[in-house]
Amino acid sequence: MSRPPAERQVSRTIAADQRLSDELTRIGIDDSAASPTVLFLASGVAWLLIGSLMGLIASVKLDLPDWLGGAGPITFGRLRPVHLNAVTYGWISLAGSGMIVWLMGRLCRTHIRWTALLFLSAILWNIGLFLGSALVILGYSGGMEWLEFPLPAAAVIALAFILFALSMFRTFAARQVEHVYVSLWYILASLTWFPLLYVIANAGLYQGVGEAAMNWWYGHNAITVWFTPIGLAGAYYFIPKVIGRPIYSYYLGLLGFWSFALFYNWNGLHHLVGGPLPTWAISVSIVASLMMFVPVLAVAVNHHMTALGHLSMIRYSPTLRFVVFGAMSYTATSFQGSLEATRSVQEVAHFTHYTVGHAHLGMYAFVTMVLFGAVYYIMPRIAKWEWPYPNLIKVHFWLSAAGIAIYFLSLTLGGWLQGLAMNTPSIPFIDTVNLTKPYLWGRAVGGTLMTIGHCVFAYHFLLVIHRAGPKRFAPVWFRKAEEVAAP
Ligand code: HEM
Repeated sequence: MSRPPAERQVSRTIAADQRLSDELTRIGIDDSAASPTVLFLASGVAWLLIGSLMGLIASVKLDLPDWLGGAGPITFGRLRPVHLNAVTYGWISLAGSGMIVWLMGRLCRTHIRWTALLFLSAILWNIGLFLGSALVILGYSGGMEWLEFPLPAAAVIALAFILFALSMFRTFAARQVEHVYVSLWYILASLTWFPLLYVIANAGLYQGVGEAAMNWWYGHNAITVWFTPIGLAGAYYFIPKVIGRPIYSYYLGLLGFWSFALFYNWNGLHHLVGGPLPTWAISVSIVASLMMFVPVLAVAVNHHMTALGHLSMIRYSPTLRFVVFGAMSYTATSFQGSLEATRSVQEVAHFTHYTVGHAHLGMYAFVTMVLFGAVYYIMPRIAKWEWPYPNLIKVHFWLSAAGIAIYFLSLTLGGWLQGLAMNTPSIPFIDTVNLTKPYLWGRAVGGTLMTIGHCVFAYHFLLVIHRAGPKRFAPVWFRKAEEVAAP
């Protein structure tokens, strides 16, 4: 039996009031997150530019070692670690932290707490990065990959991370919802694991072979407990959010999370296949790497089934375009990584450019692309200003996508051929080096496209911060809360 018109009108009014009240709550939460989020995101973008420039110069230096002269500070050996640290502890960590602050408010439906700690954290983090980069450029590197920053810089970054985590845990404790969404599982786990990992690794407790084992326990676990959770938290939030459907399966989410927690942290020693460590330790790590098929498949199926039938939306949503590209790359880089850990593939790929191709598939095509998508979603909501030039977003996407494709394919092919040549005793070593030259140029071309894309992104980002450029269509969340509340 249909309800009388007056009753229908009343329930429509109640639903509209509820929507308005939800919208006002969201605006309030976004406002509380706005300043720290912008600070983290803006610093991240600055480090993206610095890191890309360093990577590009290092890349050309492999083909033309005398380019720009041979002064110590601009040799490949110093530029490479500065690039690595700038893009990972700078860009991904800072932009990822900005995304976490914003997500924390939204997913806990509460204002951000202890924001002073967040400002202090962002400032210390930048100081640590500048100090560490300067010391490495001057020749005071720690000498271990992913741990090149000397102790004073690492200590400042560790402190910054702990302050950041304290504010996030305090906000979580004040949450206004019972339900803890999948993205939050990954965020809370990484906020617990990463400070422990970083402090233990920098404490200098190990020497000799044990130090090598610790180095790769740290190196791979930094990816496990910090960089990957950032990418997965973003993908789990933005894919369903933009599409407007709930995540396909919480059970798959649970399976993915716990198998990820169980297997991933054993992976590190696959970097030392053939090294002077007990065979069983390396074998355990290879088995754990293969077991990674379980969490990766769980995540891939979950995201695929959530997006099924709605993928055409990537034509209209820049966030979805970047995040879906990132989520697909997560599956690709993880499958590749599991196979790359086996002894038979290592026999060819180890100590070649192939590994660098894999690293960029993970850190760029997956994590960085998800972060770009996140920034495109978050910034208009906190700056209350839409991206002024949609075509610049398209240009950025295609430069990044084409750049990383060229980068990855060049190094994967070149690295494999290099490995095969190095395994052939009749080929002189210098020939195995010369053989890689065209592929290294390929990498420089891909890297140039990516770097131009980053400049376009940074310019557009600046316009939004300054609320410059043409004003575009303004949905409810662009307006001030009072305007929305007005009848
Ligand atoms: C957000 C962007 C980027 C991220 C997250 C990133 C990440 C990384 C990582 C993780 C490594 C270490 C690889 C390994 O040890 O296997 C690395 C090395 C490197 N990257 Fe990047 N990268 C980015 C952008 C670029 C760009 C634009 C270029 C320009 C060509 C570039 C050039 C290099 C070079 C030359 C190395 C050293 C490789 C070697 O030792 O042979 N990267 N990068």
